Amino acid sequence: MKAFRQQSLFPELCDTKAPKPVNVASVPQRSPFRYPGGKTWFVPTFRDWIKNQYPKPEILVEPFAGGGIISITALFEELVARVVMVEIDEDIAAVWQSVVDGHTAWLAKRILDFDLTKEAVIQEISKNNVSVKEKAFQTILKNRTFHGGILADGSGFLKHGENGKGILSRWYPTTIAKRFENLKFIADRITFRQEDGLGVIKEYSQRNDVVFFIDPPYTAGGKKAGKRLYRHFNIDHERLFTLCQSVKGDFLMTYDNAEEVKAMARKHGFQMRLIPMKNTHHATMEELVIGKNLSWMDSYPSVHEPLAEYKVASNQKEVPTTASCGRKKPRR
Ligand SMILES: C[S@@+](CC[C@H](N)C(=O)[O-])C[C@H]1O[C@@H](n2cnc3c(N)ncnc32)[C@H](O)[C@@H]1O
Repeated sequence: MKAFRQQSLFPELCDTKAPKPVNVASVPQRSPFRYPGGKTWFVPTFRDWIKNQYPKPEILVEPFAGGGIISITALFEELVARVVMVEIDEDIAAVWQSVVDGHTAWLAKRILDFDLTKEAVIQEISKNNVSVKEKAFQTILKNRTFHGGILADGSGFLKHGENGKGILSRWYPTTIAKRFENLKFIADRITFRQEDGLGVIKEYSQRNDVVFFIDPPYTAGGKKAGKRLYRHFNIDHERLFTLCQSVKGDFLMTYDNAEEVKAMARKHGFQMRLIPMKNTHHATMEELVIGKNLSWMDSYPSVHEPLAEYKVASNQKEVPTTASCGRKKPRR
């Protein structure tokens, strides 16, 4: 006899079989950075979200731009007319400012002409009082020769790198130069600002034609991940959630799957989904996606609402809730 599996009334609450994370090789790599915490793997989900926006948004604001893959993808694929990229770190900022100022060809040539040795990099990055475009070049050198692409203080040169090639293992001059050359096609549609991303969210929050992709350093609840990766990691997470609540257009936010984050999302009435990704050590883990309405993600088999936990009256035991997916009886 054929066996039938009972369907859940609330499929979004089921902890479905873990799906495969996105294969980043299938996403065009357009950023000149190899960015720690970069969101190349999130591009397909981002596309699904922004294509579901009606009417089509005019501007995408990315208040924590980093390597900027989401903003530049949105422009290359004409998903929005303009982007506002915000990044507080002066090294990263020098790169985006140089792109906007029309120095992409200069940077491409500088990269192609550079004979990379450890000594040459040390000599180059120890120069002070350089122009913004020279600073941008220094940033790319550090990003490509430091362990994990990490620019935060305490970072050091790649020791073994890929195939034991040491600091040369992430230096692909032709590829990086080509990425800069391509950026000139979208540069006039980028507004870049080196400032606090929270202030810029506030500034654009009342516009219906603006959407936000928000990828802050993962430091809520004192978590260490973001502290090691970025020079600027201290942000007021609670204020960020409050600002998101005031946004008239839509926003999509990514975070680590931390209890403090889920508590803030619930408090502000947002929806959450978990999405699989591969970390730098190729281990599969899940990140949180937070937004006003994530029903467009329901077709993702991968995604499920994190199980809620709440306390009951003090004279009763604490009861973690689990949704019935035909496997567990709900406890009452
Ligand atoms: C998780 S990373 C963003 C990665 C980016 N989504 C990508 O794909 O490359 C967070 C970034 O926020 C920046 N940042 C930290 N505090 C900031 C602030 N108050 N305003 C703007 N940027 C900030 C950090 O320097 C870091 O580059």
